[in-house]
Amino acid sequence: MIIPTKKLSSDFELPVYGLGLWQMGGRWESDTSNDEREVAAIRAALDAGITHVDTAEGYGNGHAEQLLARAINGYDRAKLQIATKVAGHNQAYDGLMRALEGSLKRLQTDYIDLYMLHFYPPSGTDVNGTVRALDELVAQGAIKHIGVCNMSPNRFEDIQRRTKNKLVCNQVHYNVQYREAEKRGVLEHAQQNDVMLVAWRPVQKGNLPKSALVNELAAKYGKTPTQIAINWLVSQQNVVTISKTSSLEHLTENLGALDWRMEVRDIERIRTLFPDQKNVSDALPLDYETDVEV
Ligand SMILES: NC(=O)c1ccc[n+]([C@@H]2O[C@H](COP(=O)([O-])OP(=O)(O)OC[C@H]3O[C@@H](n4cnc5c(N)ncnc54)[C@H](OP(=O)(O)O)[C@@H]3O)[C@@H](O)[C@H]2O)c1
Repeated sequence: MIIPTKKLSSDFELPVYGLGLWQMGGRWESDTSNDEREVAAIRAALDAGITHVDTAEGYGNGHAEQLLARAINGYDRAKLQIATKVAGHNQAYDGLMRALEGSLKRLQTDYIDLYMLHFYPPSGTDVNGTVRALDELVAQGAIKHIGVCNMSPNRFEDIQRRTKNKLVCNQVHYNVQYREAEKRGVLEHAQQNDVMLVAWRPVQKGNLPKSALVNELAAKYGKTPTQIAINWLVSQQNVVTISKTSSLEHLTENLGALDWRMEVRDIERIRTLFPDQKNVSDALPLDYETDVEV
């Protein structure tokens, strides 16, 4: 299928749904035991129309990037948007330069479409050096676009002020249940500043609470509850999402969430009535402190 896209005024564009590779090739350590299955799963996603693939140097300690390189071998690189992230401990100037080299090598490519800071640089990092490295890599063509993950508006703006380039995205935990992005102004910040909010964990790892309202809407639209949850997410202005699946059945279900619309009234009912909503991420709560080094 052709996955619908969203575009910023800068023309930066992302499909509303991409594939995430967290837990393919291990967690923070490399695990090669499922390589054949994961490569096949990535290829199945590409064959189904996925073009945005999200990974990180930290995923499987680099192994997720290696799996992605294997999976895209033979596919048209120009049609893919490969997104990867530099870990916090590599965000000083020299470390970032080395990290990017490492990612390019593991991915067997000569450019990254979207390179993100996985977190705000750890305390003690020369943040101007971090940003200088990013800007130089953009100028060299090794990175097409830069973005960040897990940043409060304050921290996002701190990075944005230091770089010549537009930060195109903020990748944060956001789904029908986890609403930190809404409650703490992260979504509004993205919407008002022409930034893509890339929502991670859209199906809460398959553990979203059951909801009578969602079941009612699933029946109304002829969709599954998971499809309602994903559709709700990408119906928010400036929001696209990424989900990990190694299952063809789940992939097919998730893709069935994308090319139709819910009525605005139903979108708003879910916003207010979805059960057991959380105002803070259970995985990576954002840091709203103002202790940024300017
Ligand atoms: N920037 C960051 O700090 C950050 C943090 C977390 C995640 N991410 C990115 O976001 C991506 C998505 O987040 P996530 O992987 O944590 O969460 P997720 O996509 O919500 O959940 C993935 C899990 O849910 C299962 N799943 C997928 N579709 C399903 C469906 N239709 N029904 C039931 N279960 C389903 C998958 O299992 P199967 O494989 O069996 O389908 C997998 O175990 C990650 O892969 C990563 O690329 C970024």
